[in-house]
Amino acid sequence: MGYADVYKSWQDDPEAFWLKQAEAIDWHTPPTRALFDRGGGIYEWFADARVNTCWNAVDRHVEAGRGDQAAIIWDSPVTQTKREISFFELRNRVASLAGALRAKGVEKGDRVIIYMPMIPEAVEAMLACARIGAIHSVVFGGFASHELAVRIDDAKPKAIIAASCGIEPGRIVHYKPLLDGAIEQAAHKPDFCVIFQREHEVAELTPGRDVNWHGFQFGVDPADCLPVEGNHPAYILYTSGTTGAPKGVVRPTAGHLVALNWTMKNVYNVDPGDVFWAASDVGWVVGHSYICYAPLIHGNTTVVFEGKPVGTPDAGTFWRVISEHKVKSFFTAPTAFRAVKRDDPKGEFIRKYDLSHLNAIYLAGERADPDTIEWTRAATGKPVYDHWWQTETGYTIAGNPVGIEAMPVKTGSPTVAMPGYDIRILDDEGHEVPPGTLGAIAVKLPLPPGTLPTLWNAAERFHKSYLAHFPGYYETGDAGMKDEDGYLWIMARTDDVINVAGHRLSTGGMEEVLASHPDVAECAVIGVADVLKGQVPMGFVCLTKGVDRPHADIAAECVRLVRERIGPVAAFKLVAVVDRLPKTRSGKILRATMAKIADGQEFKPPATIDDPAILDEIRAAVAELGYPLEKAG
Ligand code: COA
Ligand code: AMP
Repeated sequence: MGYADVYKSWQDDPEAFWLKQAEAIDWHTPPTRALFDRGGGIYEWFADARVNTCWNAVDRHVEAGRGDQAAIIWDSPVTQTKREISFFELRNRVASLAGALRAKGVEKGDRVIIYMPMIPEAVEAMLACARIGAIHSVVFGGFASHELAVRIDDAKPKAIIAASCGIEPGRIVHYKPLLDGAIEQAAHKPDFCVIFQREHEVAELTPGRDVNWHGFQFGVDPADCLPVEGNHPAYILYTSGTTGAPKGVVRPTAGHLVALNWTMKNVYNVDPGDVFWAASDVGWVVGHSYICYAPLIHGNTTVVFEGKPVGTPDAGTFWRVISEHKVKSFFTAPTAFRAVKRDDPKGEFIRKYDLSHLNAIYLAGERADPDTIEWTRAATGKPVYDHWWQTETGYTIAGNPVGIEAMPVKTGSPTVAMPGYDIRILDDEGHEVPPGTLGAIAVKLPLPPGTLPTLWNAAERFHKSYLAHFPGYYETGDAGMKDEDGYLWIMARTDDVINVAGHRLSTGGMEEVLASHPDVAECAVIGVADVLKGQVPMGFVCLTKGVDRPHADIAAECVRLVRERIGPVAAFKLVAVVDRLPKTRSGKILRATMAKIADGQEFKPPATIDDPAILDEIRAAVAELGYPLEKAG
C-alpha cells in the first residue's frame, strides 16, 4: 500500500486503523475499543486497556531475546566518554531505581520532576517513573531556578531527580544551586530529591531532603512494571504559551505507545535493532519521544549525545557519531545544521567519515529554511526530510511517510498529513480556504492517539487555547497553507510563541520579566530573524517617568534579569530603550509591525495605528541594535 491507500484506510475507519497498530504493543489488558468520546471536544484512546510503558520500552525486548543489544549508546564529547547500556542492563538499572523511588513513597500518579543533562541516567529516571506509574515532568537544564520553581508549584512533585551539574562547552552548569534556589522559591516542597553526582562537580547534599542516586538504591528490592489504565498520564511536559505560565502538556500512556511505535517504521523507516539518533535534549518533546520512548519501544538502539553540533570539538561531531555508531536515521533541528554549515561550509568534515549506514536525515522543531535543507542534502548526499509537529502532539502531524512510500520532496514543505490528522486551513471565521491560501492550521477532532487530552491542572486553558476558536477543531497555533497536491506549508505562529534555535519560548513570558524591572514602565518583546538560531528575541522598554539612569545600564540589567529568571536558553541579548511603543488607538501594542521593521520587511502600517511617527523611532532603535540584518547570501 502507498501513502494514499494508508491514509484512506485510516479515514475510512480510524478506530480499526489504530486498533490494528495497537497489536504491536504488549498489553496487560488489551483495549476493547479505540476511541472514547468524553464530550466537549475531549477524547481518549484505549482508555479501558491496562499497559506499562517501561515494559514495552525495556523488559519485553529482554524477554524477546534482545537483552544483549545496546539500548542506549551514550556519546559525550564534552566529557570524552562513551558507554553502551544493553537492554538487559537497562532493565536492571531501571528496576532498581524504580524500586528505590517506591521505597521512599513514590506511587502511581505521584509526580516526579527530572532536571538532568544529557546522560543515560536521565532516560533511566524517565523509565523508572513509567515503571511504577509515576508521572514524570522533565525540565530542560537551560531553564533557571524561577522556571523550575513555576513547574514545581504546578506539578507538585513528591520527588525531584537531578544531577549535580551539566556541562556546556566552556562552563559547568551548577544544577544543585539552581535546584536549591527553585525549591526555596516554590511554595510546594518535594518530600525528597535524588542527586546523581557527576565527577565533574560533586554537590553538597541537603541533609534530610537529598539522597544520593546510588546510595538510596542500596539494598532495595527492584520494582516490577505496574500496569496502568490506558488514559493514565505518562508524563507532563511544560511548553511555552502566550503568557509566562507554561502549559503542562499531558501525554496519555496507551496512545503514546501505539502512535510512537507506528512512527518508527512509517516515518523514520527503521527496523528493530537499527540505531536511531535524535540530537536534541530530553528536556524537549523531541527528546521525550525520540531519544527516550519511541526508539526503545520499537526495539531500536538510541543515542544519548551530550555535546553540540559545533565546538565539541568541531563541526565533524555529528558525522563522527553517525559513522561510529552506525546510525541509520538521524533527526535534529535545522539550527544545528546552520551551525555546522557556518563552521564547515564546504562539508570537509563529512568526507572524513563513513556515512554508509545513514539512510536519511530528519528535521523538525522550527521552520527548515530551503538553504539549510539544500546544503545538508548536497553535502551529505542523503535525503533530508522536514517534518512538522509540536509538543502537544508528540509526533509528526505532517511529514514524509518514508517507511510507507517516499513522497516527492518539495523543499520548504514538511510534505503531507500523517494518518490520524485531518488538517484544514481556516480563515478567521473558521471557513476552509482554497488551496494556496494562507490561513490558520487546524486539525479536525478527534486528534489521534498519544496527543494531549488536556493540560495539567488547566482544563479550561486547554479549551480556550486549542478548542474554543474553531469549534470541532484543534487549533495548532501555526499559520500556513495546503497546496493543490495536499502538501502543507508552515509559515508562522499565530501567537506570541517564538522559536529560538529550535527551542520554543514565550515572548509574553519575557515581557513579564522585563515589566518586573523597577525602572520599566512598559515593554514589548518580539522575535526577529537570526541567521543561526532562526529567531531571537528583541525587547523594547519604556522607562518609568523620572528615571534618568544610563540606558545602557538598564538594558544590561534587563538582559541579566531574563537570564536569571528564564534561563540562558532564552538567548535574550537585544534590548532597546524607547520613549514610546507603537499602538492601535485602542491601546494594543503593534508587535507584528515592530517585527516587520526589525526584519526589514515591507509592510503597511495598520489603519488603526495611533501615531505612525513612532514607527520611525522604532526603526532607529532597531538600527542601533544592528537590524535589519544584512541579507546573507
Ligand atoms: N543547560 C544549561 N544551559 C544551556 C543548555 C543546557 N542544557 N542548553 C543551552 N544552554 C545555554 C547555552 O550554554 C547558551 O548559554 P550562553 O548564553 O552562556 O552561551 C544559551 O543557553 C543559549 O543556548 P543555545 O541557544 O543552544 O545557543 P548556543 O550558541 O549555545 O548554541 C547551537 C547554538 C546551534 C549550537 C545550539 O542551539 C544547538 O545545538 N541547537 C540544536 C537545536 C536543538 O537541539 N533543538 C532541540 C529541539 S529539536
Ligand atoms: P515544539 O512544541 O517545541 O515542538 O514547537 C512546535 C512549534 O515549532 C510548531 O508549532 C511550529 O511553530 C514550529 N515547528 C516545528 N516543526 C516545524 C517545521 N518542520 N516547520 C515549521 N515549523 C515547525
